[in-house]
Amino acid sequence: MKTYLITGGAGFIGSNYIHYLMEKSQEEIQILNLDALTYCGRKENLNTYEGSADYHFIQGDIRNEELITSLFSEYPIDYVVHFAAHTHVDRSIKSPRIFADVNVSGTLNLLEAARNHWGDHYEGKRFLYISTDEVYGELEAEGQFTEATLVNPRNPYSASKAGADHMARAYFTTYGFPVLVTRCSNNYGPYQYQEKFIPNCLFHCLSGNPIPIYGDGQNIRNWLFVEDHLAAIDLVLKEGTLGEVYNIGAEEDYTNLEVVHKITAVLKEKYHLNIPPLAYVEDRKGHDRRYSMDSSKIQRELGWQQKISFDAGIKKTIDWYLNNKDFLKL
Ligand SMILES: NC(=O)c1ccc[n+]([C@@H]2O[C@H](COP(=O)([O-])OP(=O)(O)OC[C@H]3O[C@@H](n4cnc5c(N)ncnc54)[C@H](O)[C@@H]3O)[C@@H](O)[C@H]2O)c1
Repeated sequence: MKTYLITGGAGFIGSNYIHYLMEKSQEEIQILNLDALTYCGRKENLNTYEGSADYHFIQGDIRNEELITSLFSEYPIDYVVHFAAHTHVDRSIKSPRIFADVNVSGTLNLLEAARNHWGDHYEGKRFLYISTDEVYGELEAEGQFTEATLVNPRNPYSASKAGADHMARAYFTTYGFPVLVTRCSNNYGPYQYQEKFIPNCLFHCLSGNPIPIYGDGQNIRNWLFVEDHLAAIDLVLKEGTLGEVYNIGAEEDYTNLEVVHKITAVLKEKYHLNIPPLAYVEDRKGHDRRYSMDSSKIQRELGWQQKISFDAGIKKTIDWYLNNKDFLKL
């Protein structure tokens, strides 16, 4: 049996990952979901597993050394999959300190607890740090991020993610600690907290308020349906080369305006909704202009492929939110 310590499992990607493991895992597993339940963590995302012998929810903070140490003593943890973080760029611009504290110090705390507990016996042990494409900063009109692109974060969120990403990789080179790092592009899908771009757009469409667009709406992002990310995480965790970084991204990039138009087209055609007007708002400070991902390494080395196009994924996402309207706090 494999024991997973999943941090941030009550958040967007973490919840999806736990559903994915519980539904698809080929081996016997036990999951410890450690989450502080901040404003965006929802324990009820995983209500179906409450009381099940192979799922344990622990409400706690990744910065709590005593708690983390006790988890390593109590359970035979094989894999750490570390999602927990403060994740919203706008919040990081307003309150950067908590981002450095949780994202960097919290990650260090987990690395230290695992290193102390595992000692030098790393056989079968793996620590996957879920980083982000945002650590690369922004691109000019041409080119893509590869794993060799200089890490050059430009806002407090991405700087804190880069700090933890560096720390995790330093544990590999310094201690031979079994670290893997993934850097994925923007995810979308079920369970994403409503202040993020796609649910926020849906929220405004459904509540009939103008849809806010930063600046000129021409910032370009790479969007991956969350299920494609989960399959990549699973592959990297099981088959990735220790100490390596893997980019994970979609084939297509879209401007923010294009994303809004795709969402409103589905809402009009399938749900016959009247769409509110766009409201252009002052641009985010230091707003990265363009991201684009080269995922050829994970495709070549681990055989990962994007399976869900943006057009298919956005329809699934819209259907999920319209069937789970309480999630949007309309
Ligand atoms: N969402 C994306 O598009 C995306 C893309 C690439 C990478 N990532 C990374 O993936 C991870 C998960 O992102 P998400 O979108 O699911 O985030 P999210 O904000 O939805 O979830 C984060 C979770 O972490 C928990 N958390 C926060 N502080 C904590 C603490 N001190 N101790 C324990 N738990 C704490 C929250 O309660 C929440 O459940 C993050 O590390 C993020 O940087 C996200």
